[in-house]
Amino acid sequence: MSSSLLTLPKAELHIHIEGSLEPEMMFALAQRNGLSLPYDSVEAVRAAYQFENLQSFLDLYYAGAQVLQTEQDFYDLTWAYLQKCAAQSVRHTEIFFDPQTHTDRGIPFPVVLNGITQALRDGRERLGVSSGLILCFLRHLSAEAAMATLEAALPYGDHFLAVGLDSSEMGHPPAKFQAVFDRARAEGLLTVAHAGEEGPPEYIWEALRLLKVSRIDHGVRCVEDPALVDFLVEHQIPLTVCPLSNVKLCVFDQIAHHNLKHLLDLGLCVTVNSDDPAYFGGYMAENMAAITNALPLTSQDLVTLAQNSFKAAFLSDDQRQGFLEEIAQAAAVT
Ligand code: ADE
Ligand code: ZN
Repeated sequence: MSSSLLTLPKAELHIHIEGSLEPEMMFALAQRNGLSLPYDSVEAVRAAYQFENLQSFLDLYYAGAQVLQTEQDFYDLTWAYLQKCAAQSVRHTEIFFDPQTHTDRGIPFPVVLNGITQALRDGRERLGVSSGLILCFLRHLSAEAAMATLEAALPYGDHFLAVGLDSSEMGHPPAKFQAVFDRARAEGLLTVAHAGEEGPPEYIWEALRLLKVSRIDHGVRCVEDPALVDFLVEHQIPLTVCPLSNVKLCVFDQIAHHNLKHLLDLGLCVTVNSDDPAYFGGYMAENMAAITNALPLTSQDLVTLAQNSFKAAFLSDDQRQGFLEEIAQAAAVT
C-alpha cells in the first residue's frame, strides 16, 4: 500500500470539536480559567480513557468540556484541530458542536459560536482548510430543550450547514426529535443524526424517515437489516464511520473485526472520520493507518473512501468537482 494513498485529499464529516480537546490543552485551559481538574497529570488523564461503552466515554467527555469557558478557549480548541487537518490532508471539515454542553453551565451561545467561527475563518484564510458547522442536539435531554436551543440558534442560522443529533443513543430514538428537525428543515437547514452506533437498525430507519437526514453518523449496525442496507445503497446515503472510536467504545472488540471493508463491499457510501480524536487515539491519519493495517483494503478502496468523503460533504458541485479532480491527479501519480 503506497503511503501517498493515505495522504490523498480528504474531507472529515464526523468530528465533535469538544472531542478534540487534548489533555495538554485541558490542563492549560483549566489553569487559565482558575479551575482544578480531578487528575494529577496529562498522563493520568490519558490513562483514564478506558471506556466500556458510549456512556462511560460521554461522562468524561462532558466533564472535560467544562474547562471551555471563553471565546478564546473555543478559538484555541478549534484552531488546534484545524492545524491537524492541514497536516493530515483534510482539506474540508464539517464540525459538530454541542451548544447545550456549554449553555447549560452558563456560557452564552455567542461565546461558543464566535470562538469557533473565528477559528474556522482563520483556518480557511491561513491554512486553506474549508469548513462548515453542524449544531448537534443532546438526545439525552428533552425535545423541548432541543427546540429552545434551535430557536436561540436560528438568528445565527447562516453559520450552520445542518443540525445533528448526538449523545446517549439507547433509549433516545430519533422520533423524540421529529418536531425539532421539522423546524430546522423548514428554516433551510440540512439534517444528520447519529444512529446505529450502539442503537438498532430501527433508529437508522427513523433518522431517515422522520428526521429526513442526508447522512447517517456511524450506522455500522445497518448490516443487521438487509432491507435497510438495500435502501442505503440504492440512495447512496453516506455513513460517517469512525473506526478508532468504534473500538474504544467497544462496538467492535478490535480493529481487525471492524465491518468497514464489508460495508464498502456492499456498495455503501462509507467515509472515515475521527469522532473524538483526543479521546480515541487519533485524527484522520491515524484512523486511515489503523484500517489500512488491519483490514484487507485495496488501493481502490482508499481512493473510494477519499472520493466518498467529498461526495458526502455539504459542498457546492463546483467545490466537490475540484476536490475530486485533485484526488484523481494524486491517485494517478501513486
Ligand atoms: N458525542 C461525542 N461523541 C459521540 C459519539 N460517538 N456518539 C454519540 N455522541 C457523541
Ligand atoms: Zn460522533
